[in-house]
Amino acid sequence: MALREILVVPHPALKQVSQPVERVDDELRALMDDMLETMYDAPGIGLAAIQIGVPKRVIVMDLARQDEPKQPQYFVNPEILWSSDETAPYEEGCLSVPEIFDEVDRPARVKLRYLNYQGEQIEEDADGMYAVCIQHEMDHLDGVLFIDHLSRLKREQAIKKVKKLVRAA
Ligand code: NI
Repeated sequence: MALREILVVPHPALKQVSQPVERVDDELRALMDDMLETMYDAPGIGLAAIQIGVPKRVIVMDLARQDEPKQPQYFVNPEILWSSDETAPYEEGCLSVPEIFDEVDRPARVKLRYLNYQGEQIEEDADGMYAVCIQHEMDHLDGVLFIDHLSRLKREQAIKKVKKLVRAA
């Protein structure tokens, strides 16, 4: 396993649409292992492959609290089959938009279909944090960041702050 560099805004790759995965094989599992390690190291609770510059429809997540055992989850070619009309606000952040947090409204519940680490097809309902996080990560697969859900002014301010942060590092 290896740590990969996490791309931050305004890197152009983050606007790219990722491509479906054809096969869940050892090469893909090695990518998912690297993604999980990179996410834990950051630390973060979700990471899409494009955030390390790989344009594949792959996401890793771990929503366990600090005092709980790790619960890694892997999503290959995830799809949202249904989403609730009811929405819920949540204060989101993103490893590609460091130190920026703002409230985004999303459907409160979704029904998902995806392939897991073994390549098995799973259908599952998500709500709460799980629903927020998977929708945020799936946006990445279509080149959308959580700041794209904010006003243009807030988005431009966020990018400016990140640029300043990167320069200072
Ligand atoms: Ni993100």
